[in-house]
Amino acid sequence: MRKDYMKAEDSQGGDETTFIENYWTEVWNRQGGPKGEIDKIPTKDEYKVIKPFMDQLPKGARILDGGCGLGDWTAFFTQQGYDCVGLDLSRETVAKLHTIFPDVTFKAGDIRHTEFEDNSFDAYFSWGVFEHFEEGMRPCIDEAYRVLKPGGRLFISVPYDNLRHALRAAGDWTERKAAQRHNRRFYQWRLTKGELRDELSAGGFDVDKVATIHKRQGVLRSLHHEFKLNYSWFVTRGASLVLAPVLPGGLMAHMILAVAQKPLEG
Ligand SMILES: C[S@@+](CC[C@H](N)C(=O)[O-])C[C@H]1O[C@@H](n2cnc3c(N)ncnc32)[C@H](O)[C@@H]1O
Repeated sequence: MRKDYMKAEDSQGGDETTFIENYWTEVWNRQGGPKGEIDKIPTKDEYKVIKPFMDQLPKGARILDGGCGLGDWTAFFTQQGYDCVGLDLSRETVAKLHTIFPDVTFKAGDIRHTEFEDNSFDAYFSWGVFEHFEEGMRPCIDEAYRVLKPGGRLFISVPYDNLRHALRAAGDWTERKAAQRHNRRFYQWRLTKGELRDELSAGGFDVDKVATIHKRQGVLRSLHHEFKLNYSWFVTRGASLVLAPVLPGGLMAHMILAVAQKPLEG
């Protein structure tokens, strides 16, 4: 597992949980807060991977969206007839979600220790959340295991430690080590497919598959980091559109998504 760092401002002190809550509240505010863009969900990579598994779930099944952010996924599955709950650390964002989606269930809370009962969810999905704690993913995985029913499915995505990252780290490790010592703070873990499988297996899950997703996002990031192209430039966006379908996921994908199951007996 590889650590990613971010620039630390003086104002970003405090414990990790407070930092994460403030950081994401600020990100969502900058983006204009929840907008209810649920029509986009079926076009997303995550949806394409989980759809065959979700199709097996009867309507009314209980689902947890861990780290729901702007709430679109929670609202989407509620609209589809599931009993879906969105949970997020950002209290300010959750308060806004109650206004934007009055008929959807959102709660403020921490996915590492929720108030939900043991064995109470049929499925649990979480996109880009389990990687945010320097202590590692185990508290998130253990809590997911606790709240899922036997046979319940867990879907999680985390940043992918792809070949591009491995080559980059090998090339500039001296510079990176120096940078880490000054004004940097932990941002997230980045995992290989094997590492994600091992983490989930160690937590008691049977892993069905680990898929690469968000290849175009990875290409955009590469064009930005390696070639200094601005994300919003037409040339950057055009090149990413052309390159993404022909470059391998193992080199470029930005995230990986695991599908796992809590064993029926365990
Ligand atoms: C990368 S965003 C992902 C948002 C959403 N899952 C999506 O795909 O659009 C991470 C979200 O997880 C939330 N989060 C981070 N740590 C959390 C925790 N321990 N418990 C609950 N939510 C958390 C953040 O507040 C933020 O909204």
